[in-house]
Amino acid sequence: MSNRPKILPWAVVGDNIQGPDQAFYESILAQGNGYMGVRGFDPAGPKENGHERSVFLAGFFEYIKAGITDMVNTPDLFAVRFGFPCKRVWASARLDMDTGLLTWEGIWETEDRLQFSVTSRRVVSMANPHAAALEVEITSLNGDLELALETGLDGDVANLPISDDQLAQNTTVHRLLFPVTCAADRDGGLLIMESRPSEQSLYQAYRVKANRPMALEGVVGDAYTAVRLRGTLPKGEVLRVEKFIATYSSRDEHREPAAAARDLAAQLAVQGFGEVLEESSAAWNRLWGQCDVELDSELEELQGAVRYNIFQLLQNNASHDPRVSIGARGLMHGRYKGNYFWDTEIFMLPFYLCTRPEAARNLLLYRYHTLDDARESARGFGLKGARYSWMCSRTGFEQCETWDTGCCEVHITADVAHAVQRYVEVTGDEDFLVNYGAEILLETARYWVSRLTYDPRGDHYNLLFVKGPDEYCGVTNNNTYTNFLVRENLLNAVGAVRALQEYPEAWEKLQSRLGVSQDELALFGEVAGKIPILYDEGRELFIQDENFERLEPLDIEAHKEGAVPLYRTISYDRLQRYRVLKQADLVLLMAMFPERFSYEQKRNVWEYYEPLTLHDSSLSFGTHAQLAAMLGYEEQAVDYFAKSAFLDLHNIMDNVHKEGIHMAALGATWQALVFGMAGLSVDQAGSVRVNPRLPKEIRAMRLSVVVRGRRYRLAVEGDQAQVTAL
Ligand code: BGC
Repeated sequence: MSNRPKILPWAVVGDNIQGPDQAFYESILAQGNGYMGVRGFDPAGPKENGHERSVFLAGFFEYIKAGITDMVNTPDLFAVRFGFPCKRVWASARLDMDTGLLTWEGIWETEDRLQFSVTSRRVVSMANPHAAALEVEITSLNGDLELALETGLDGDVANLPISDDQLAQNTTVHRLLFPVTCAADRDGGLLIMESRPSEQSLYQAYRVKANRPMALEGVVGDAYTAVRLRGTLPKGEVLRVEKFIATYSSRDEHREPAAAARDLAAQLAVQGFGEVLEESSAAWNRLWGQCDVELDSELEELQGAVRYNIFQLLQNNASHDPRVSIGARGLMHGRYKGNYFWDTEIFMLPFYLCTRPEAARNLLLYRYHTLDDARESARGFGLKGARYSWMCSRTGFEQCETWDTGCCEVHITADVAHAVQRYVEVTGDEDFLVNYGAEILLETARYWVSRLTYDPRGDHYNLLFVKGPDEYCGVTNNNTYTNFLVRENLLNAVGAVRALQEYPEAWEKLQSRLGVSQDELALFGEVAGKIPILYDEGRELFIQDENFERLEPLDIEAHKEGAVPLYRTISYDRLQRYRVLKQADLVLLMAMFPERFSYEQKRNVWEYYEPLTLHDSSLSFGTHAQLAAMLGYEEQAVDYFAKSAFLDLHNIMDNVHKEGIHMAALGATWQALVFGMAGLSVDQAGSVRVNPRLPKEIRAMRLSVVVRGRRYRLAVEGDQAQVTAL
């Protein structure tokens, strides 16, 4: 990367941003509040295409073809346009993580060489999900400036969906939003848009204020509404324009969304930018009180990088909305069409579970609310129970268009069940288990019984024709990660029923609704006991799957070129016959269930698989850091940890500019730090233990977690840990 950001303990700063760096900074400086996500573009900066400068709303997807959605690119709410020829000659930006404030500073020049500075500050409110505000200060630097500018809502937006096939470049732009009402007056305006084909509505209102007398008028265009400001700005004087934006959509189920948007914009205008920012900062302050990890470390910029990981996890989570999950690139980029993967349950959820359990509950309720779709999906495959899709959006129906992944990467179903189980263990939330969790566990267990193939020769239930987390090793049989989680899923379903005996009425209802019999429960137990877990006794080594040992070795050094994923240089078909891993598979299993495997078993997995792993997925580094820390491999732990913690900020995968930030890696970073290095564990009964394994580069760490409704403060220093119940 030519122009790395400076990472301060509470801020990320980019200096002299120009040319191709612009897109990188737009990705890492993205702002959000869980309801909406806005890429970190310069409000006054250039717009070349309708699919740039994206603003996304959680859960707002639209169909781009039969059955397949894309996350809708919504109007640019921070747009500022100058009404005279001028260009930006210098720019810098700063994202403050304690307040969520994004500041862009720029020097601009007219054709007559008049220079003026433009400083914009903007907030996407953490206090009110529907609210955002922008303040722009313009100072004329070397002469009187005849100023004309517009700011409003630019709904001339479109989507350029990104193909699942990473080698294919889609060029078909889809217009998904169409204007219904477009109004403006001298104080602000209203934009109502409708998505097609599903006719979802978007209601946005804004208000504009200026600190000095200017000629003001409303302007409307096709899907565009703005206030135009004109006047002379004498040298050295400042024009301050404030803009307040309110957003509602038909997803909010508000009775009068347009009026609500208008009222909110007016109310924000009365408050003023300073107060809107203050309210949002106070909300951020509360979040940091729950989620901060304070480090005493000699590793340069690590504190800020760790906070950045947490900051983005918080910004991309609609913590109060049980109808959405978190996309692989959050609300900050359209890569993967905004879809939800196992990334949420396995990589991100543990963070929310331990810091904001109500957010974790809502993420799992999304899976409950799509359980009917998962049932229908299982039926579509000729199977029973509920089968979660590899990629999901508005519904639980499969969004993955690559057949082998969509059909065979079935571990997602067991991942969801695992997350349900962990949620109940860590929170003790029996209401969730009784009303939602048990049903998920039972229906997914049913799916597995119908998906497994009985082999009378060995008296085994084999899981055939599957793809494990390591997507490079083809479609295979008995992937150990998957089989292990399937076994857990079956046993946890039986356990849930046992727990439900305490709630006879609820159990009776559920039992009769699902038609669960004692025989079926006994079958779950029996099948669980007969699922093969491939293990080589001689080498004390778990084997990834039935094919793995037969694959052809590959000289990785000779083939891997920097950050370029191998599928770009070796055809996918060829790649799948080499003994190389895309990402953590058994290493992940060891890190997820460290207490279930001996030290030697974990070590052997590391020693065998780590050298074969290419880390062509961003999910891999954090997990490797976590297991390395657990094994006491300090140097490797720190090395992998740095790759995960700085993954986006240092553009380690070389794709942040065109793909946005990597949500799962953010969660994996947190897990590596907290479960790996601080050594936190919470057992099935909710007991908290801390077994520190800090590398010498991190002297101390302080954080808090919530277990079974109680907040604990953890202070780790060297090999000492103090756990205080608050
Ligand atoms: C990884 C998957 C992941 C997906 C979305 C893929 O490259 O292999 O494990 O779920 O990206 O992040």
